[in-house]
Amino acid sequence: MILKIIKYLYSIKILMEMENKPITFQFISEPSDVNYGGNVHGGSVMKWIDQAGYACATTWSGNYSVTVYVGGIRFYEPIKIGEIVKVEAQVIYTGSSSMHISINVFSRNLKQPNFDKKTHCIIVFVAVDENGKKLPVPRWIPETEEDKQKEQYAKRLMELRTQIEDEMKPFL
Ligand SMILES: CC(C)(COP(=O)(O)OP(=O)(O)OC[C@H]1O[C@@H](n2cnc3c(N)ncnc32)[C@H](O)[C@@H]1OP(=O)(O)O)[C@@H](O)C(=O)NCCC(=O)NCCS
Repeated sequence: MILKIIKYLYSIKILMEMENKPITFQFISEPSDVNYGGNVHGGSVMKWIDQAGYACATTWSGNYSVTVYVGGIRFYEPIKIGEIVKVEAQVIYTGSSSMHISINVFSRNLKQPNFDKKTHCIIVFVAVDENGKKLPVPRWIPETEEDKQKEQYAKRLMELRTQIEDEMKPFL
C-alpha cells in the first residue's frame, strides 16, 4: 500500500515537472527540396511537419508515437531554396492516448534577421507500444492564459473534425 502511494506521488511529481517546451528544428532548405516551380516542395514541408511532430510527441509521451491525423495545412507563402527554415512543434492538448501538436513553419533569407511564418497546422499523434496498441500519455495542464487559449483552439478543431469526418464517411 505504502509503495503504491509513493509511486502515485512520484507520478504526480513527474507530471508537475514536465515542461511543455516547443521542439525546434532549424536547417537550410536544400536543392533536393525543390518543386517544379523552383521553390520548396510542399511534400518536403509536410515531411518536416511530421518529423517535428514525431519528436515532440515521443518526447512528451516517452513512447514511440504515430501520426493519427494531420490536416488543415495552410501554405501562406513559398519557402525558397537556400533559406533557413525553422519548424516549431508544441503540445497544445492531450487526450487519453493522443497528443495534439501545433506546428508553425517559418523561413528567412540568410541575409535577413527576421523569420516569416510560412505554414501552420495541427498534427495528432498517438503513443503506442511495441505491438502498435495505443498507450496512455501524460496529461498536459495549461496554466497561462495563452496555453488555455491554445487548448481551446485544439478542442474546437476536434469538434469541427468530427463534422468533416461525418461528411467524408460515404467516401472512405
Ligand atoms: C494510432 C492507432 C494505434 C489508434 O488506434 P485505434 O484503435 O484506432 O484508437 P482510437 O480510435 O481509440 O483512437 C486513438 C486516439 O486517436 C484519436 N483519433 C482518432 N482519430 C482521430 C482523428 N481523425 N483526429 C484526431 N484524433 C483522432 C482518438 O480521439 C483517440 O484519442 P484519445 O485516446 O486521446 O481519446 C491506429 O489508428 C493506427 O495504428 N493508425 C495508423 C498510424 C500510422 O501508421 N501512422 C502513420 C501514417 S503513414
